[in-house]
This record gives sequence, structure tokens and C-alpha cells, in this order.
Amino acid sequence: MSQRSALPEWQHLQQCALRARSRHLRDMWQSGDRAAEFSRQAGPFFMDFSKQRLTGADRDGLLALARACGLEQAIGDLMAGVAVNNTEERAALHTALRADAHEQVFVDGRNVVPAVHASLERMDTMVTRIHSRQWRGYSGKPIRDVVNIGVGGSDLGPVMVCNALGEFTPPEAHELKLHFVSSIDGTQIADLLGSLKPETTLFIISSKSFTTVDTLSNARTALQWMLEETGDHAMTLNHHFIGVSTRADRMSEWGIPAANQIEFWEWVGGRFSLWSGIGLPVALQIGMKGFRDMLAGARFMDQHFRHTPLADNLPVLLGLIGVWNATFLDIRAHAVLPYDGRLKVFPSYLTQLEMESNGKSVSRAGETLDYSTCPVLWGDVGPNAQHAFYQLLHQGTQAVSSDFIAPLKRYGDHHSSTDLQVQHQLALANCLAQSRVLMLGDACVENGDSAPEFRRYRGNQPSTTLLIDELTPYTLGALVALYEHKVFVMSVIWDINPFDQWGVELGKQIADATFLAMKFSGSGDAAAFDGSTAALLARIKKAGRKPS
Ligand code: F6P
Repeated sequence: MSQRSALPEWQHLQQCALRARSRHLRDMWQSGDRAAEFSRQAGPFFMDFSKQRLTGADRDGLLALARACGLEQAIGDLMAGVAVNNTEERAALHTALRADAHEQVFVDGRNVVPAVHASLERMDTMVTRIHSRQWRGYSGKPIRDVVNIGVGGSDLGPVMVCNALGEFTPPEAHELKLHFVSSIDGTQIADLLGSLKPETTLFIISSKSFTTVDTLSNARTALQWMLEETGDHAMTLNHHFIGVSTRADRMSEWGIPAANQIEFWEWVGGRFSLWSGIGLPVALQIGMKGFRDMLAGARFMDQHFRHTPLADNLPVLLGLIGVWNATFLDIRAHAVLPYDGRLKVFPSYLTQLEMESNGKSVSRAGETLDYSTCPVLWGDVGPNAQHAFYQLLHQGTQAVSSDFIAPLKRYGDHHSSTDLQVQHQLALANCLAQSRVLMLGDACVENGDSAPEFRRYRGNQPSTTLLIDELTPYTLGALVALYEHKVFVMSVIWDINPFDQWGVELGKQIADATFLAMKFSGSGDAAAFDGSTAALLARIKKAGRKPS
């Protein structure tokens, strides 16, 4: 038995879960004001978790488990710069990236907040120069297109935010177009370069490690494309390349001039790095003021997380519900369903945040866990997903939990069209309807249970509904921080380190070896690979051989 599952609080919850498994959500509404008891407001968020398969006693049991796991202490440690990333022996201080200038956060005896604010100032200077057309391409023309080259945490956060907050682009950024390139196969960059002009294009090479082959191969292609036009290495790099990384030495080695570098720190996890220089594309799109508003929203959530009692603490509740579903009720799939097209990329962003963080099966002490951890997470814009995968949620064989996310206000003062306001109401109506049917099944319509079997809905699929006052840089910052902290809460209960990702390393090594075998054919190749891989490799080599 693992340390966690040996806890009396854990075992008590297992008993609660046995009862919960035989209960249907439609039968949980008989007494009391469940909607009020299982909902909380914090700042711009209203969180309704009354559609979870959770009684008051279950919730209290989860809170008792959280205390037994030392959650309050763990939150303090996280924010105080303790080396919570034990396998890499370092802190995970994304919260310091949004600290106020007067705050103090120490890493190895040094207050890191001044360096964080100096980096923000540096970003500010670059953004101002680009927006004000002082930053010019090699031929003297202002920059029109900015291409962020990165992958994973050096891509998904900026892509997600730029998609969500396009409406907040200030006038000075109206003529600037942001593009994102991440995939190693070259399709994205080849398509994009075909539509850009070198003299007005600026590349941001974003990589925490500055070793990621996906990013460096795209960067090389971009540099080559520029050089074909300019023929001048130094001039090209000075005018057309910015680097963002923790490794100034590697950026310099690659050729990025010191003046074009933004540094951040090892104690920022890749998937938590949106708030650092990695957010430069966001600042270019919504301006530094918008970027700072986003930091302020995240800071609000940090304070809420740090100081609110567990029972009223949104990330704590969201995390405990996640553990309840995945571990105790054995619900192994989780859908994220925003009812707002601006949040289209949010589910993809969360796939990395949640699955790369908590997709683990070994405890901090190295023991193999005897319970399930992170569920498979996916999602899409809810109204579109209704016409794609909701069939499985309603009538499939699989239990799935969901988060429904929607803004209360949309198309306000600056939109005159009432048609758009009607569209917003339609989206909200669909949001409520779907979560209701998922909960109740066909019990929500008269004589629903007399329909033929193929038309029946069994319901009992739990969900949380998160209403946001409106989507702004501030509330989006708070929303992302809410999920970051949710992930941390789950990791504490599961006793795992959410800040490393050793599981992705082996694949990278093997890919390097495979690439070499593909490029340089040696006689021993086939023996070095398993039968399937050797045969596929042979077929690929044959296809690549030029006809004689
Ligand atoms: O391979 C996974 C990973 O290391 C992620 O954790 C990270 O966000 C991504 O690759 C990109 O890494 P980097 O920013 O160092 O290029």
C-alpha cells in the first residue's frame, strides 16, 4: 500500500466512493439547497459544482484528506520558493513571475522579484520599439509579421492567449500580425514563409532549454529563408531574430545578439512559463498593459489560493473534485468545454498543463502508486463539440467528467448588434442544457424513460460549471492560474511531482538515434531496431532513394 492510500482519510473516502458509485445524480436533489451548498464565488468566477457526484460528507472527507496530505503547508512551500520539484532539485516559482514589485521571493537566498520586473521592463522596451515602428527590418521597413517559433510550453500558452484576446489589441498593434510555428515536420513554416516578406518579418525563437530539435530545426529553416534574401548573417540576426530562453549562452552560440535576448530562469517550468518572456507574443498582440493586466489576474488567483480557507478555495475545490472523480470514482476521462470560441485553444493548453504535470505513476519517494492519477483530458469549443463527440458523453459506455466554462457577459457596449447578443444567449442555453442532460439523463423530460433503448440517456455524468464575468486579460490570467493551482492541488493529494516530465525524454533520445540510422545507412541498422521499426525504416529509406 502506498503512503497515501494507507491514510485513514483515504480509506474513509474509498468507503464513501462505494456508496457514491451506486448513487445517481438525479437522486441527489431531494434535500437542502444543493445549488447554494455546492457553489462558490471568487472575484470574477462563479463555480457551480452541484452537478458533481458528491455529498456534503464526501466533500468534507476530501477536505480532511487534503489536510492530512499537508496541502496548506504545500501551498506555502510552493510560493515561498522551496525546491518542490524534487527530481530536478529546484523551486517552481511561476507565482513569482506575477508578484508585485515590492514583494520578496527568495531562491537560494536571493530575492528574484527585481530580476522578474527587470525582464518585464526589457519586454516593454522591445514591444514599444516594435509597436512604434522604431524596430526596423534590414531594409529599413517596420515589422509587420512576428513569427513565434517554439513548442509545448514555449508555444501553447502564447497561442492560446493570442487566440482568446484578439479583441484587446490596442491601436498601435493593429498592423502587426502574429503567427505561430511549432511542428517539426516543416509544413507550418513552409506554408507560412510562402506568405511573408523577409524584410518585414521578425522571428521569436522561444525555448526554455534552447536545445529542442523541433524549435531549432524550424529556426534554422527561418534563418536560411532570411539569408537567401539578405545574404548577411549579422544584419539578419540583429534585425530579425529575438531569443527567449533560460540559456543566454546557447542563444548567443546560435547567433542571437545579446540585445535581442530575453532570459528567464530554471525555476520556471516550461508549461508554467507564459508569464515570463515566453509571453512576448502576447504582449505584442495585446500590449504591455494587457500583459500586465493578465499578470494581475493571475496574482489575484495566487492570493486567493494562498489565503482562502480550503473549503472556499476555488483551485482547491477544483483539484479535490478532480481527484474524487479520477481516483475514487474511477472516471478516467475529463472534457474541457468552453462555450466561447475565443477559448478554442484553452483545452489544448490544458492537455499539456494537466497531463504533462500529473501523468505520473510514481510517488515523490519513488514508490509505484496503487491508484489512478491524471485522467485523459481533451476538449473543444462546447457548441462545436456537441456536434462531434458529445454523443459519447451521452450514450457511450465511458464515464467522463467535464468542465463547462462560459462568460456571463459578451458583446457589451462596443457591439451594437443584438443578433450577436442572441448568439451569446444561445451558447449559454446550450451550455446549461448539456450539463443538465449529462446529469439527469432522460429524467429531465416527461416520459423520457419510456423511449426505446437507443434513444435513452443514462445521465450521471458529473460536471462543474465555471461562469466568468467576462473574458478579459485580467480574467483569463486568473483562469489560467486557477488551473495551474488545481494541477498542484491534485499532485499534492496524489503525492507526485508535477514539475518534471521525465516521461518525454526517452522518446527524444530514440528519435535522435533513429534519425541517424535514417540518414546514414550502416549495415548493422536492422539489428539495432525491433522488427516493426526496422521494417518501417527500410520502407522509408527505399521511398527516399533517388531513382537511378
Ligand atoms: O518535451 C517536453 C518539453 O520539454 C516541455 O516540457 C516543454 O514545454 C517543451 O518540451 C519545449 O521545451 P523548450 O521550451 O525547452 O524548447
